[in-house]
Amino acid sequence: MSDQVPVVAIDGPTGSGKGTIARALARNLSWHLLDSGALYRVVALVAEQESLALDDVDSLAAAAREMDVAFSAAEDSEQVLLAGRDVTALLRTEAHGAAASKVAAIPFVRQALLERQRAFAKLPGLVADGRDMGSVVFPDATLKVFLTAIPEERVRRRHNQLKEKGIDVSLPALSQEIRKRDERDASREIAPLRATKGARVLDSTGMTADEVVERVEIWLAETG
Ligand code: C5P
Repeated sequence: MSDQVPVVAIDGPTGSGKGTIARALARNLSWHLLDSGALYRVVALVAEQESLALDDVDSLAAAAREMDVAFSAAEDSEQVLLAGRDVTALLRTEAHGAAASKVAAIPFVRQALLERQRAFAKLPGLVADGRDMGSVVFPDATLKVFLTAIPEERVRRRHNQLKEKGIDVSLPALSQEIRKRDERDASREIAPLRATKGARVLDSTGMTADEVVERVEIWLAETG
């Protein structure tokens, strides 16, 4: 559990770069990686596939508990497998991000994913990224980072990320979708997106990924 296994919790809004930073840090440290957003995206995907309504809370929570999800490390990213099928590309669309943010506001869904997320905490350590890693899932994390950047930069990063994956969206549309999603994530009653007590806040605007990773590694070294 998190009080024995070292955990670095990286939270922040969409496009803050937390996924990239978490992956690089986990690779440098040879630690495990948890992309918690992917779990919420898979719940949204299952809901879509099984035509579950957003108010069918019991079925959504059951799906979150029972879904057969596995992560496998690929070259430069993680592959997400649902019942053995590679759903990585499907999950990355902004439509699934928005759907994930809707199911993520349901307390029973969050509860159903709690133990699943905590099970990722294994030696030699875990780097976990999301919205509530430091506040709810790993409150005893060794290091908590709240990563952010100005909205224009976050939209630009997310746009580039989608483009690299062959997904073409207009900047104004993406900007609006991201703003809506962050507003929903920050204003929900359960586990809202915000810097938790004790988190190191890092505005990564204008910084390269390497510079951010270096900063986080220095903070981690300071904890030991
Ligand atoms: O990080 P990512 O963009 O993949 O997350 C998708 C959505 O899942 C977020 O907008 C948020 O609503 C939800 N999420 C969450 N808690 C987490 C990770 C993601 O509520 N720890």
